Amino acid sequence: MATTCVIRDVNRHVGEEVRIGCWLHNKRSSGKIQFLQLRDGTGYIQGVVVKSEVSEEIWDNAKSLTQESSMYVTGIIREEPRSKSGFEMTVTNVEIIQITHDYPITPKEHGVDFLMDNRHLWLRAPKQRAILTVRGEIIRAVQNFFDENGFTLVDPPILTPTSAEGTTNLFHTKYFDEDAFLTQSGQLYMEAAAMALGKVYSFGPTFRAEKSKTRRHLIEFWMIEPEMAFVDHEESLRIQEQFVSHIVQSVVKNCRAELETLERDITKLEKIKAPFPRISYDDAIKFLKDNGHEIEWGEDFGAPHETAIAESYETPVFITNYPAGIKAFYMKPDPNRPEVVLCADMIAPEGYGEIIGGSQRIDDPELMEERFKEHNLSSETYKWYMDLRRYGTVPHSGFGLGLERTVAWICGVDHVRETIPFPRMLYRLYP
Ligand code: 4AD
Ligand code: MG
Repeated sequence: MATTCVIRDVNRHVGEEVRIGCWLHNKRSSGKIQFLQLRDGTGYIQGVVVKSEVSEEIWDNAKSLTQESSMYVTGIIREEPRSKSGFEMTVTNVEIIQITHDYPITPKEHGVDFLMDNRHLWLRAPKQRAILTVRGEIIRAVQNFFDENGFTLVDPPILTPTSAEGTTNLFHTKYFDEDAFLTQSGQLYMEAAAMALGKVYSFGPTFRAEKSKTRRHLIEFWMIEPEMAFVDHEESLRIQEQFVSHIVQSVVKNCRAELETLERDITKLEKIKAPFPRISYDDAIKFLKDNGHEIEWGEDFGAPHETAIAESYETPVFITNYPAGIKAFYMKPDPNRPEVVLCADMIAPEGYGEIIGGSQRIDDPELMEERFKEHNLSSETYKWYMDLRRYGTVPHSGFGLGLERTVAWICGVDHVRETIPFPRMLYRLYP
């Protein structure tokens, strides 16, 4: 019996007969020869069925195959320089598992709503498969980076009694008799972990009931949140640029075929190397005003502002030192200029917007108390967070990288809905 293998590994079986579990992606035929485009999740290969070389039954089996029919195909692997993968299979047997009827996603164009309703099937499309493969590679690169730089993975809770990033987009739920919220960010817990383990990072889902329907917003998204004791804002920026360069270069190195499927301009990604430029919030406001945008000091940037600023650069750019009034309660004021905070947003090039938000955290207990009052946060629920300032407080910084926006940028896809297997969006919970 032929050895079982997956399409990714056919290069190890040249000249051998192998058996592959797969689906029919597409098919062409002339009267005497059928070309089966086979996919098994690990790759694609063309199976060639020659009428004069197989039994009538096998020929008819191949002929009956429709798009997404499932089967085992047996055949001999040959090198084929003209094929994209470099290999082809001369089919010796086709064992049908199921003939599929009326597969909804045909090779023709479909509307986005239709595709989203069929997301569970759309995932099988080459482009969607490529995006999820890149997503997997990004996660691997994230873990490698932190493993190599002395960070420990720590998991913050999903159900929380408090808000971390403001109260306007909290997902409320009951926790028996208490009120609870789905986490918006693990940061506050990661600060506790950093005081216990030094350098830590988390990777998990976060939830924001954002009423905005934009190509950058999801209701459920995944965030990578490092937190570092004894690290100031400056050092944090250096770590961020190293981190993002590492991710992009890992994808360039390990996902070339996927980037080609996505028709991504790889030369643009090759330029993503640290250090990244920095522009202060003040200078960004000035730049925007000089370029005809209506914005005043103290206002937050919208997507068009971020895009306008990012257009001047080929790498991501840091916008630093925002006004305290438009940033989170925990950010440390600049000692020389307390109206701005020691923070930065990293804006991706090519209009993909903010991919990282980060800051140095307030470590002074009195100032923290003041901020709680200003932001109407109950010192009861945040007591544990205050304890971190009471018992051996130290300078510390951290940041959060949004995974889906990073995937969107690296893959060059223009909406985050394609960057996560099953997107949760405003007005979409199915499938
Ligand atoms: O800037 P944000 O809100 O920062 C925090 O949550 C901090 N607590 C992180 C930290 O310092 N530990 O969110 C961080 C990143 C954004 O830059 C963006 O990439 C992503 O999370 N993000 C979203 N991605 C998709 N959909 C949404 N609704 C997002 N909101 C934020
Ligand atoms: Mg932000």
